[in-house]
Amino acid sequence: MNSSQDEQTGKGILNKLTIEELNLAGKRVLIRVDFNVPFDDNLTITDDRRIREALPTINYAIDEGAKVILCSHLGRPKGKVDLRYSLSPVVKRLKRLLGKDVLFVPDCIGESVTKAVSKMKPGDVLLLENVRFHPEEEKNDEQFAKALAANADCFINDAFGTSHRAHASTAGVAKFLKSVAGFLMKREVEYLLGTVHNPLRPFTAILGGAKTSGKIGVIENLLSKVDRVIIGGGMAFTFLKAMGYEVGDSMVEDDMLETAERIYLKARERCLKFYLPVDCMVAESMEPGAATKIVSTQEIPKGWKALDIGPATARLFSDALSNSKTIIWNGPMGMFEMDVFSRGTFAVARAVADAYALTIIGGGDTALAVHRAGVAEAITFISTGGGASLQLLEGKDLPGLVSLTDRPA
Ligand code: 3PG
Repeated sequence: MNSSQDEQTGKGILNKLTIEELNLAGKRVLIRVDFNVPFDDNLTITDDRRIREALPTINYAIDEGAKVILCSHLGRPKGKVDLRYSLSPVVKRLKRLLGKDVLFVPDCIGESVTKAVSKMKPGDVLLLENVRFHPEEEKNDEQFAKALAANADCFINDAFGTSHRAHASTAGVAKFLKSVAGFLMKREVEYLLGTVHNPLRPFTAILGGAKTSGKIGVIENLLSKVDRVIIGGGMAFTFLKAMGYEVGDSMVEDDMLETAERIYLKARERCLKFYLPVDCMVAESMEPGAATKIVSTQEIPKGWKALDIGPATARLFSDALSNSKTIIWNGPMGMFEMDVFSRGTFAVARAVADAYALTIIGGGDTALAVHRAGVAEAITFISTGGGASLQLLEGKDLPGLVSLTDRPA
């Protein structure tokens, strides 16, 4: 554990001020939320979880009599005004969820914002336009951060999902205002860090998804903390190849083979239980209707690619999960977006949900998988962060958290 993470662990975000420690009555409160939500072609929000997760902070600020100014990014408009990424469609959903009116300003800094804020009464809610319409946002430009801060008396960061970005609205603005963590930020950090540093044992990490390279930092950091590591998804085949298996046309990151071998040896040195798939579902192609079959991971035929774990692996993983007391899961076991390759991921989702354990899910795909498997309600905590949760699990600092005001000693 490095020293900065040390500050964030123990009793959660102990050294940072949190929302309940601010007097919000009558104040203009800038709240950074992560409303980076998916839309369909008709501009209807298809998953509003990130908005709903921000409600405790927004409602608290309203109840305290704050003038609530919300800001967020949406997508990656590359510093230009691009109305496909406008936050205006969020207003309708937010109004419904809050049960009150929400004002909207088509910019996030400048005269139009100042004017709208000057008319606000305690308890009013105003949503600003996408901060990424300004190129200065992602450059963490000081003048832009100052302009954002100019219309507020204090700042609440509740955008855990974006807290790994050192941008003006996540980190820079905190330089100009008293800055505290919102309820979601607090909960995320407490669950993710608190659990990793103080788990009930046995503690099992399940890591999946396509790429080993994206998860290496997490595996390396968790090796010294967990009792068991379960590797599934596309990344498992890089590990299997590193151990000398023929993996057919399965996805392999050749530049990760040495790293995978090193991790495997390190896990053995630490006497960790390290689980890899023993069977898998292979397909001739990813086309719908392509031939599929279950094979041992020692016998993947040439020309076939593994796209899901097999039933024996699902049982093996489920057994390991059934007597775990803490489970962290990031990354699906296969291409669960296609029904034919969803069984392994759903079996693991059910096993996680059935375990008598504290269970934490990180990453958008894994969150979607537990929802699709119908077990989301049985999970202790589902993080709203993808990159942010990985960065925290890697043992790295989050700029959006580090920049908040320290609690006086
Ligand atoms: C996310 O969806 O992971 C966050 O909103 C951050 O978005 P970004 O990857 O575009 O910075």
